[in-house]
Amino acid sequence: MIKVKGCKKAEGTVTPDSDKSISHRAVMLSALAQGKSKVSNLLLSKDIYATIDCLRNLGTQFELVDNTLAISPATPFSQPKKALYVGNSGTTARLLTGILAGQDCNATLLGDKSLNQRPMGRIIEPLRLMGADIKARKGGYCPLQIAGSKLKGISYRQEVASAQQKSAILLAGLHAQGTTTVIEKEPSRNHTEIMLKEMGARISTSGKAINIEAGALKAKNWRIPGDISTAAFYLALAAICEGAQVTVKNVGLNPTRTGIIEVLQEMGASLRVAYTQSCGEPYGDITIRDGALAGIEIGGSLIPRLIDELPIISVCAAFAQGKTIIRDAKELKVKESNRIKCMAEQLRKGGICAYELEDGLVIEGGKGKGGKFYSYGDHRIAMSMIIFALCAKGESIIEGEECIDISAPNFTRSLNTLVPSGTLSFSN
Ligand code: S3P
Repeated sequence: MIKVKGCKKAEGTVTPDSDKSISHRAVMLSALAQGKSKVSNLLLSKDIYATIDCLRNLGTQFELVDNTLAISPATPFSQPKKALYVGNSGTTARLLTGILAGQDCNATLLGDKSLNQRPMGRIIEPLRLMGADIKARKGGYCPLQIAGSKLKGISYRQEVASAQQKSAILLAGLHAQGTTTVIEKEPSRNHTEIMLKEMGARISTSGKAINIEAGALKAKNWRIPGDISTAAFYLALAAICEGAQVTVKNVGLNPTRTGIIEVLQEMGASLRVAYTQSCGEPYGDITIRDGALAGIEIGGSLIPRLIDELPIISVCAAFAQGKTIIRDAKELKVKESNRIKCMAEQLRKGGICAYELEDGLVIEGGKGKGGKFYSYGDHRIAMSMIIFALCAKGESIIEGEECIDISAPNFTRSLNTLVPSGTLSFSN
């Protein structure tokens, strides 16, 4: 449990936890490469440990020194002796299924309660079209049983804008005969494409189509940038608090992920971004100052570029003047929790008028008061409600905050450096 005193103050410089999406991919792709790779500044969070543990059970060897991981692939994978536990991690479950579909082993994938309720049909259907042998629990849920098969390339047009689905198909395409094509519904995060190219894969992009052909991957050393999805919480805090100024350093700035910057600017915050480039992924420092935030409308192709930031954007909306309308965000219902329902409920507990739409949320900006909030076991809801509590009047309690370790194990420590001492206190 975390106790938070509303302080509406923030000042300082933080470096966010490393990027979760890129960390998963660096570990998985290195486990498929020819030769040993090293990943530095790796995110050491629960979700990434789930990926590492699954691959260890498939014969990959890992050595961790500080936060640099050395990866020695086992090619081919060995037959796992037990079910592979993916925990809470949708990225592990979906990308690994794509990898395993064309391997010479049989595996069972199993997750925690939340993961076992998340739809896997979106990857099972295209992978079966490629020839994969996957059995799922009724309705298309984990546990999944994957029996490695000979795959053939397909051309698949996405019905959901999902980077996890796109990546699962492309990774299966690495072991398929012929060309595999994914035609995106809307551009979603493209780390898989960038990283595969860096490793020498035969992958090309043409408009919304991504093509890949089977081939070997060269080992590579990676350095992981900070996660813009974690940075978003510090940015939101500064945007809301009058007189605040915060710098977030070494943040990944891939344009498929920077929708949050555009939204904060449109709402009225003042941001300065300094860009650098490394391994095909731009990154840099963001300095933000508060602004008089105003409600806006968010939807369309912007949604996949800020999908994980919608809970914290809802918090910004709660303290903005006027109404914010979020649409085209049905996907939020099948994240680690139903984020539309959970955020609307929590904001109402904090005295904000918020209601659910079929595909989004409407939030009327208000004052926000302290209360007893709950994470629903969802890391991004927990962090969003801590920021809400810091900006609200009075004291709050946030329960179920342990899940923050899923993506941002250093979050509360970093946040503590930005707010007056004694604002956050922790107890079991
Ligand atoms: C992710 C893609 C997104 C995102 C998730 C991580 C990834 O999910 O919400 O947190 O690493 O590919 P979808 O692809 O399901 O939209």
